[in-house]
Amino acid sequence: MAGNTFGTLFKLTTFGESHGKAIGGILEGCPAGLPLDMEAIQGDLDRRRPGQSAIVTQRKEPDTVVFYSGIFEGKTTGTPIGFAIYNTNQKSKDYSHIKDSYRPSHADYVYDQKYGFRDYRGGGRSSARETASRVVAGAIAKQFLGEVTFTAFVSQVGELKLNTPYQELDFSNIETNPVRCPDPEMASAMEAYIKKIKKEGDTIGGVITGVIQNVPVGLGEPVFDKLHAALGKAMLSINAVKGFEYGSGFNGVQLKGSEHNDAFNTDGTTKTNNSGGVQGGISNGMDVYFNVAFKPVATVLQGYETIDKDGNMVQTKGKGRHDPCVVPRAVPIVEAMAALVLADFALLARGNKM
Ligand SMILES: Cc1cc2nc3c(=O)[nH]c(=O)nc-3n(C[C@H](O)[C@H](O)[C@H](O)COP(=O)(O)O)c2cc1C
Repeated sequence: MAGNTFGTLFKLTTFGESHGKAIGGILEGCPAGLPLDMEAIQGDLDRRRPGQSAIVTQRKEPDTVVFYSGIFEGKTTGTPIGFAIYNTNQKSKDYSHIKDSYRPSHADYVYDQKYGFRDYRGGGRSSARETASRVVAGAIAKQFLGEVTFTAFVSQVGELKLNTPYQELDFSNIETNPVRCPDPEMASAMEAYIKKIKKEGDTIGGVITGVIQNVPVGLGEPVFDKLHAALGKAMLSINAVKGFEYGSGFNGVQLKGSEHNDAFNTDGTTKTNNSGGVQGGISNGMDVYFNVAFKPVATVLQGYETIDKDGNMVQTKGKGRHDPCVVPRAVPIVEAMAALVLADFALLARGNKM
């Protein structure tokens, strides 16, 4: 299986399956001498952890990260940082009903066709459990980047959409509710809606907005590794993601160039930021902001029709512990992937000019 590594210099490789012994990763390229705040790393993992509220999967995992290498006396040594998160709460028999059939819109069918083999327990490698390793590496990337801040929040669940521009939102509200929406009224409505969907044994999608601030000018590598292209790949590599837009995004097409252009101030900043902090694939020092759309995930706890391995139509019913809406838990994953992209470009930028 190829494609388990992300990044050029600040480079993460992940391993593990949902119901194996552990998941984990090897992070290469983090410079030596970075003091690590272990609580902050575990803190980000706790925000992604299952079982954290009534609106997420009830799998109970402490998700404690154990480091094996690359850190000495609280600082990175410059060698590969190896880490694992042990799986402690697998209930593999919850998945015996899909051993010989495929969940529609999950990865079951394609894994079986591609590899001729499938670990059906919890989705195996296709499980979003893998993203816990990204959160560990992303938390290290955030610390490497120092002043650059990464904020993500839920801006839409189903048709419930927050229309307030991010500049007018109070980010300190994000972690005060289980949905991770910074508008308390909208957060309550979203929470109630997710509970209703869960009761029906169904799932619902949502949007996460990401905002990266204090970005230095000059990150991003033209032409193929533009900053927004790398961010798009990073976000689209997250399980269940269906869409990515940055800056003015799809709405920008409705404006004329004279309206869309970001006029300069004398210090090089711009009066507006339709560019989303990126021009020509290179950061211009303004906020980088983007939206990531997540689908309503595949495992519905209802009866459904599908096919078995022999192509017969079968009637089955979803079982097990699943997320009715993944966006609350995906917020730290979005931040982590954004941080990995910026850390990589920050290292690459060291070769920009004399
Ligand atoms: C945080 C998170 C939690 C998820 N939880 C579930 C889940 O409980 N049940 C499920 O069917 N899919 C879940 N998914 C999505 C699947 O991993 C994903 O849909 C599947 O691997 C197929 O990939 P695709 O949707 O990207 O095509 C989750 C995704 C994320 C990001």
